Amino acid sequence: MGIPAMNSSPCLSVTLMMLIMLEMLIVVCTVKPTEAITANVNCNKVNNYFIPCIGYLINRSTRVRPSIACCRSVKSLNAASRGLVRVGVCECLKINARRIGGLNQRNAATLPGKCGVRINLRVSPTTNCRRA
Ligand SMILES: *[C@@H]1O[C@H](CO)[C@@H](O)[C@H](O)[C@H]1NC(C)=O
Repeated sequence: MGIPAMNSSPCLSVTLMMLIMLEMLIVVCTVKPTEAITANVNCNKVNNYFIPCIGYLINRSTRVRPSIACCRSVKSLNAASRGLVRVGVCECLKINARRIGGLNQRNAATLPGKCGVRINLRVSPTTNCRRA
């Protein structure tokens, strides 16, 4: 019970040290790295960029195309999202996507492509934001 006495074998001490370090590493790694970054991005502002896209996003048909106004908005969001902001914007998109009732996931996933925006700026709850 407890930490072995210091007169135990040096190998045991090393093992113990490694276990403690591993534990610290696990604690560091399980803290969501995007939380602090997301706090720098106003999710309501991000949401506003998608107002012109709502008709497209909730349309049941996957053949519908986003409006010119929608694509213009997506492009300006893309242009405004560089570096760490991008990860925060991505997290906002995930939060916002869960709030859109009747979101057509497939339309959400194809939105950047249909607007000619190459990066992974998808309005999907399953997006991995570290790859944004
Ligand atoms: C879905 O898109 C089609 C094609 O643009 C349109 O005719 C239809 O009204 C839309 N449906 C809804 C529910 O907005």
